[in-house]
Amino acid sequence: MTVVAKEEIEGIGVEFESKKAQEIVNWALEEYDPNIALSCSFGAEDVVLVDMIAKIRPGSRVFTLDTDFFFPETHDLIKRIKEKYPIALEVYTSDMTIEEMEKKYAKELYSTDPDLCCQIRKLQPLQKALSGLTAWITGLRRDQAPTRANTKKVELDSKFGLVKINPLADWSPDQVWAYIRENKVPYNVLHDQNYPSIGCAPCTKPVKPGEDLRTGRWAGKGKTECGLHPADNPGKK
Ligand code: ADX
Ligand code: SF4
Repeated sequence: MTVVAKEEIEGIGVEFESKKAQEIVNWALEEYDPNIALSCSFGAEDVVLVDMIAKIRPGSRVFTLDTDFFFPETHDLIKRIKEKYPIALEVYTSDMTIEEMEKKYAKELYSTDPDLCCQIRKLQPLQKALSGLTAWITGLRRDQAPTRANTKKVELDSKFGLVKINPLADWSPDQVWAYIRENKVPYNVLHDQNYPSIGCAPCTKPVKPGEDLRTGRWAGKGKTECGLHPADNPGKK
């Protein structure tokens, strides 16, 4: 595994700011494959990245953190993506089943303590997914949330000690959807039913016209992030 030098990554981050998403993906795979993987929830941004990665380097690594709470529509999309693209998909789950978690803590833990639920169902599998990697690719975009406004295209993820690559950081939703249409990328049918941002079924609601794209995530729970992408990442300026 490559040792990641903070100054070097910060320098690359500045240099790569003007580069196109495909150039960044290409560089990242050249530099870090096989110790790099796309972190994929199969949202609109992530299917764009699957399309790019599969075209640039067939067989590239993609992982998903299956919380056991995915919508049936998400499972259907995963099937369609696997049929279409030559990717090496790894699925990580929590060591605890939903039943075990609810028995140990509380029924519907996602309502009573969503942070603990995310810790068990998303962050614990993420640790497994990232182990052995030098870099991970995400579909983060700056305009998704104020907490993501400082996202760099290439940055040091100090929480996990890895290089974090966000090729779509400066993309708008229109750019994402133009890419999906032009390249005929399979996408989650829930996006056509007012779900712009899709996570676990119990914590994702449709939004009303004009509402912020992430309003439907953890609506009414006073929570905006699950901990995968901490806003206070000291790697960010
Ligand atoms: S979340 O933190 O609120 O869930 P969001 O759904 O916006 O994040 O996704 C941001 C990025 O985090 C995605 O583009 C993807 O890279 C990663 N991600 C989110 N959820 C998952 C998941 N279940 N499995 C793998 N990667 C994920
Ligand atoms: Fe649990 Fe909701 Fe977090 Fe999914 S998003 S892991 S259901 S709290």
